[in-house]
Amino acid sequence: MATPILATPEQGSGLRPVHVTNRNGVLEVLAMRRDPFAFADEKRLRMGKTYAMNALGVRMVTAAGPEAAGEILMNKDRAFANAPAWSYLIGPFFNRGIMLLDFDEHRHHRHILQQAFTPKILHGYFGEMQPMIIDAMKRFPTGDVKMLSEFKQLTLDVALEVFLGLELPQHEADRLNKAFIETVRAGVAFVRKPVPGGRWWKGLRSRKILEDFFYEHIPAKRAKQTPDLFSVLCHAESDDGDSFTDEDVVNHMIFVLMAAHDTTTITMTQMVYRMAKSPEWQAKARAQSLEIGPELTYDDLARFEVVDLVMRESLRMCPPVPAQPRMAIKDTELQGYFIPKDTMVVIPQMANHRDPEIYSHPHVFDPERFLPERAEDKAHRMAWMPFGGGVHKCIGLYFGQMEIKTIMHNLLRNYEWSVPADYEMPMDYSALPVPKDKLPVRMRRI
Ligand code: HEM
Repeated sequence: MATPILATPEQGSGLRPVHVTNRNGVLEVLAMRRDPFAFADEKRLRMGKTYAMNALGVRMVTAAGPEAAGEILMNKDRAFANAPAWSYLIGPFFNRGIMLLDFDEHRHHRHILQQAFTPKILHGYFGEMQPMIIDAMKRFPTGDVKMLSEFKQLTLDVALEVFLGLELPQHEADRLNKAFIETVRAGVAFVRKPVPGGRWWKGLRSRKILEDFFYEHIPAKRAKQTPDLFSVLCHAESDDGDSFTDEDVVNHMIFVLMAAHDTTTITMTQMVYRMAKSPEWQAKARAQSLEIGPELTYDDLARFEVVDLVMRESLRMCPPVPAQPRMAIKDTELQGYFIPKDTMVVIPQMANHRDPEIYSHPHVFDPERFLPERAEDKAHRMAWMPFGGGVHKCIGLYFGQMEIKTIMHNLLRNYEWSVPADYEMPMDYSALPVPKDKLPVRMRRI
């Protein structure tokens, strides 16, 4: 039986129609969540790299492979937009965050926001971050430890310090943390309506708490410059002299807090897992950390070759943002296929990172594939893209790597960890990829 098609291209256009899977969309989504790699392999064999499904009320095309990713992210025709795609997932909670802006408006905001991530400003964040990480790592628990939970708490504490730069009483910090967590959780709610007590409702309530908090502190932040992100955003100016309104500052603060948090937590959890399964890599990384010395300068961050290889390979095997959605805002084409207006187009980054045409033994943890003599990631400019690509490429990629390296350095120097030989981390792929069991390890001080 022929598979149905998404839409018929105009005669003479030379474009092909996209075929739609003939399985129920809900079943497809469940299969994808269960095992995204098996799902991608099955689709590639049966339907090729570009196929469609009607899932959860949305017409969705998946376009696998680095070539399609490049075509979508570098689209000169401005046919693919972020806001209508991402808003579907996180809209009401991260309203007017930078990732939910498009084209000229996005460029305008990004120019100003970029001022908060220059090397000079990053030096300032590093100076704030390091002492508190050193201090927190002294108190890191030993015995049976759930790494995901520990990293979540630690990165949230770092965020309060480095992003907000405010001395908050404990009850106020706890209130903010709770509001922040509820705002993030709301995006993956099943019931996407404000039913009192439900996740969506709590998300909206928490967004309001965060907004009120930031508005209240803006006058003080505008009055005095300090090295935290909040203050930097209040004073940032583009080369053309543009700056943010109070409303912009609030929207960007809430979005950046969210963008920075789970992504770094997931990366570190993956790194700890991989180094528990491959103790030789843990030993090599530790030897390098011991050699570099306890306190780091900003320039020392470039010396962590082993941690860097482990991080790259962990980000390849499990990119924290597993897919990038865009919305076709006009009839367009992609890889020779016809894409009608109002189709959601998805770059399946996590599956792309296991593409056997690019990576040798793609399911094997092999950090040396990133060494210059192998450089498998350089096969295509979109072969390795945990931080995305094009105009929306992660603005915090240096900040994130700085935080990850500083935390891993302190962990490696002071502790050793392991998992049972037969342990395989059970993954939950229903939203961002996290271990269902929060990765329990045996942690020992050395
Ligand atoms: C390992 C850590 C991180 C990973 C893997 C990551 C991944 C990504 C990806 C894939 C995108 C692009 C999404 C898209 O185009 O649809 C993105 C955008 C973004 N990230 Fe990150 N991120 C990380 C850490 C951070 C940190 C620490 C910050 C802030 C300090 C941050 C702030 C942002 C912002 C603001 C955007 C939107 C940029 C724009 O739309 O112009 N990220 N990130």
